[in-house]
Amino acid sequence: MSNCNKLGIGLAGFGTVGSGVWNTIEKNGELISDRTANGVSLRITKILVRDPAKTRATTSAVPTEILTTDWRELVNDPSVDIVVELIGGTTDAFEIIAAALLAKKPVVTGNKALLAERGIELFAISRKMETPIFFEAAIAGGIPIVKIVQDSFVGNRIHSFTGIINGTSNYILEQMTLRGIDYTTALGEAQALGYAEADPALDVNGWDAAHKAILLATLAYGFPIDPKNIHVSGIEQVRPTDIKFAKSLGYVIKLLAIVREHESGSVELRIQPSFISQKHILASVHGVFNAVSVNADAAGESLFYGRGAGQGPTASSVVADLVEAARDLAHATRHRGFLPYRETGNLVPIAETTTAYYVRFDVTDRPGTIAEIATVLAKHAIGISGTHSPVNPDNPDAEFLDMVFLLHSCPFGKLTAALTEIESLNCVNSTPVVFRIENLG
Ligand code: NAP
Ligand code: HSE
Repeated sequence: MSNCNKLGIGLAGFGTVGSGVWNTIEKNGELISDRTANGVSLRITKILVRDPAKTRATTSAVPTEILTTDWRELVNDPSVDIVVELIGGTTDAFEIIAAALLAKKPVVTGNKALLAERGIELFAISRKMETPIFFEAAIAGGIPIVKIVQDSFVGNRIHSFTGIINGTSNYILEQMTLRGIDYTTALGEAQALGYAEADPALDVNGWDAAHKAILLATLAYGFPIDPKNIHVSGIEQVRPTDIKFAKSLGYVIKLLAIVREHESGSVELRIQPSFISQKHILASVHGVFNAVSVNADAAGESLFYGRGAGQGPTASSVVADLVEAARDLAHATRHRGFLPYRETGNLVPIAETTTAYYVRFDVTDRPGTIAEIATVLAKHAIGISGTHSPVNPDNPDAEFLDMVFLLHSCPFGKLTAALTEIESLNCVNSTPVVFRIENLG
């Protein structure tokens, strides 16, 4: 370490979050020093970028000599005590973090994709090198949910998490609802606001939320989870007609992450657009905000709410981790940070998870269409709680294209079997769109 209280930071990535970390340390560096028992002083001594000539939106000038395009130079720089990885992705970011750990430099990252996809390898290096990885910024932006699970709730058995943990998709759904704008326009706004991933497909296809849910589950239940084994669906299929129909029934559509331990010890983990009651507290989570409801045996139900993405909130979590890493170095504790503590665990097969459903069919409108679909559902013993097709009041004979069914609770596997059969009916033109209807109590 360069100095007991003065910590040199190697900042890999100087985009939305990286420049937020620079700004936060510039603005609140003295406050951080005052608030830490040993007067931690954080100083960014090296910055990795792709393009050193790019103009950066920082609140103070960045000395050009500390910029580099070579990550090895950053990791190996003797002035760098802690490495912050904020470039994203799962290749170069992996190399940077692995090299930092092997050099016994603690790591702070916001990279949920990397930890969910390749965390097993990185945590093994972390364990071997007794050098921690901190990742508060990886889940729910500015909400300190990692510390809550890992520290504040360490004495609890966690029954479940129910959350909205992707700010971009929450923003898009809300803008489509409030302003009636289309999906692509809303996504463009979320990108301009710095909420979206470099690859925004991850935000809208549910995988960014899935990566975070995997990390939450691993924190709570201790075993690594292979992303290939979980069921994820995103908001790409949500249409204004779904939003309107949900509203008329007293629901809102949210991209929900459910992580729940069953009595058997198996863990249910799924991400999907869901109808939730307008009266439920999660229905009031607007725009880029996230919320995670944690149900734990001793603490009971708690709700954590805050900005889930964007420069300031994410930088707040990164800086908190930096101080934690600095404290660790200063006190020469051997190891802190999270490690999976069980090698394996079981996931509940998606086919066995049970909820009610909203299913939208693209149909050819002709006499018998509803009956044909209903007959297959009846054959599979799936109850119908409602049906709907948009009727044009000016032309009641106009053909409709969408036919919506609301279905009573049944295992997802049973629904899938029925829908496979329905899809082969002549009156059904494409794969039915399914959203869950969650009873959140
Ligand atoms: P970003 O704005 O795209 O910034 C990425 C930065 O990394 C840029 O400075 C880029 O350099 C640099 N970079 C990318 N690949 C590189 C490479 N191979 N070699 C050298 N430099 C490279 O991304 P961001 O939004 O700040 O997100 C960074 C990380 O934080 C991601 O893992 C993301 O998932 C996570 N995160 C983001 C948010 C958020 O709200 N944005 C919230 C939580 C977590 P140039 O500037 O020269 O192009
Ligand atoms: N793209 C992510 C989101 C950033 O919108 O939630 C925060 O992890």
